[in-house]
Amino acid sequence: MPLNQERVTLIRDVWNNLRVPVRPGPEGLDLYRSRMESVPEKNILVFGATPELLDMAIELKAKKIVSIERTPEVIEAMKQLGTHDWSNVQLIADDWLNERPDFVSSFDCVVCDGGLLFLEHPGQWERLFSLVNSYLVPDGIFVAKEWAEPPGDWDYDQLKEDLIRQFEEECKTRDHDDQIELYKYRASELRLAALAGTTDSKGAFKQTVQSNRLDALIDELEQRFPDPEMVQITLGALKYLARSQPGTTDVITGVRYDGAEMLLARQGFESESFPLPDRPIPGGNYMFVARKK
Ligand SMILES: C[S@@+](CC[C@H](N)C(=O)[O-])C[C@H]1O[C@@H](n2cnc3c(N)ncnc32)[C@H](O)[C@@H]1O
Repeated sequence: MPLNQERVTLIRDVWNNLRVPVRPGPEGLDLYRSRMESVPEKNILVFGATPELLDMAIELKAKKIVSIERTPEVIEAMKQLGTHDWSNVQLIADDWLNERPDFVSSFDCVVCDGGLLFLEHPGQWERLFSLVNSYLVPDGIFVAKEWAEPPGDWDYDQLKEDLIRQFEEECKTRDHDDQIELYKYRASELRLAALAGTTDSKGAFKQTVQSNRLDALIDELEQRFPDPEMVQITLGALKYLARSQPGTTDVITGVRYDGAEMLLARQGFESESFPLPDRPIPGGNYMFVARKK
């Protein structure tokens, strides 16, 4: 099927306006880099087509780089956002959960930035961990980032108001270009703030609450920040990102590291956790490094 070019452009423009914590931040990138550097043979599999991770693998002169992402338009959009030539990257449009016998024992390092958010826990997480284990060589490593609400009282309305007021304060001393750049960060932070207090006892996000919050926030931000560039940023982060169906979102699971660790251990990994300082809830974004035993 030919690519829907309008969709490619929309996805590219949306992603171009996203920042940490939706996209990887410096501490997360350092961890990915150090682990990619640590493997002797660099055969690297990326779940997703995160431009920062594919560019990193290219910079590290990886021997083989493979990326799997189910949506061809996302692949093309991410390729356009990459800063290096991706012609040696094998870009595959497929579901991560489809078994690929050709991948067995073929990779030293598998990375995934934010992908577990899209998979049901525990079934799809465990299936993914089992597939990753089979794709890795012995001692191979799997590095991933997930978001889950850390212990504490995280009140959405308070978080939202604090982020917006802080932005308004910061704007007073910045020129327009700086304001736009700052707004990109705040919009990505607000997207994750909207998850506060919406996780049920099984680690699933309450979709109706999330969807209603995002819709109300779009209206509020459009009124408070009507600058056309800011409106595009608002819509990208809150209307288009991971919202393929009305009334719900594609981001479904927020399970903390202990939930991941148990499933990783069952699939033959030993693992360590790395909380990230990413705003607006420090430790909400966390990473794990899992080694195949
Ligand atoms: C990797 S995650 C998080 C975004 C990431 N931070 C990035 O920079 O690309 C988002 C992507 O995962 C893809 N995705 C989610 N579930 C998938 C699955 N089961 N198989 C393949 N791709 C999937 C979605 O299409 C979406 O483009």
